Amino acid sequence: MRKKIVAGNWKMNKTLPEGVGLIEQILKGLKETPVAKPPEELIIVLAPPFILLERACQMVSTIKNVSVAAQNCHQKDSGAFTGEISVPMLKAVGVGYAIIGHSERRSYFKETYSELGAKVDNAIRHQLTPIFCIGEVQEEREKNRHFDIVLEQLEGSLFHLSIDDFSRAVIAYEPVWAIGTGVTATPAQAQEMHAFIRECVRKKYNNEIAENTTILYGGSCNPTNAPELFSMPDVDGGLIGGASLKAGDFLSIIHSI
Ligand code: PGA
Repeated sequence: MRKKIVAGNWKMNKTLPEGVGLIEQILKGLKETPVAKPPEELIIVLAPPFILLERACQMVSTIKNVSVAAQNCHQKDSGAFTGEISVPMLKAVGVGYAIIGHSERRSYFKETYSELGAKVDNAIRHQLTPIFCIGEVQEEREKNRHFDIVLEQLEGSLFHLSIDDFSRAVIAYEPVWAIGTGVTATPAQAQEMHAFIRECVRKKYNNEIAENTTILYGGSCNPTNAPELFSMPDVDGGLIGGASLKAGDFLSIIHSI
């Protein structure tokens, strides 16, 4: 059975004291109302800004079903790359996951398919699990090109991986028109795309890999729409932006899975 994940992408929000407070609230909530599934079946991932990662890792170190993610990583291990953070640096503080290829990285920071592919390679080489984001913009959906774009993104940065390496990656489908807009994909739209992505994985690799790949939905997911989105057969959890910044909302999304 494939693993379910609920991940909170904080983006560039929360100072150190604010972030510590939010993690404390989330952990308190999980202690009061534990999730019913073991860590092999459901993992909660917190992706705060870099400056909070070490502290976040310390805070969750004894909690088996909570892990920490970076929101980005560099493709090289070290060197003259001012302002960047390497995978070994992340691993050394206990980070387990890295969000790679978020649409904000693609559009504002011009990250290319080949750069993203190199980031994925480096993460996997160091046993950091990539949460690889894909998704079309509004215009592409209107022109009915959303399936082509998603396949192009998979082929451009992920499908060069060996079966073994691919089996370590997590995919997040995030339609760009749904991110931070309050307009979420309908459960049917999410299911349709997730099934398509799984089919692409099946064709490229095999049935077993496809069935074991965790595919998250992201884009204006909130406590109201999460239960229905998560009930879709190919939706294995969520990558949550805005709603992950409020402990109550994030906890209720976690419990809806
Ligand atoms: P949102 O962001 O939930 O605020 O739409 C999701 C994301 O960008 O990962």
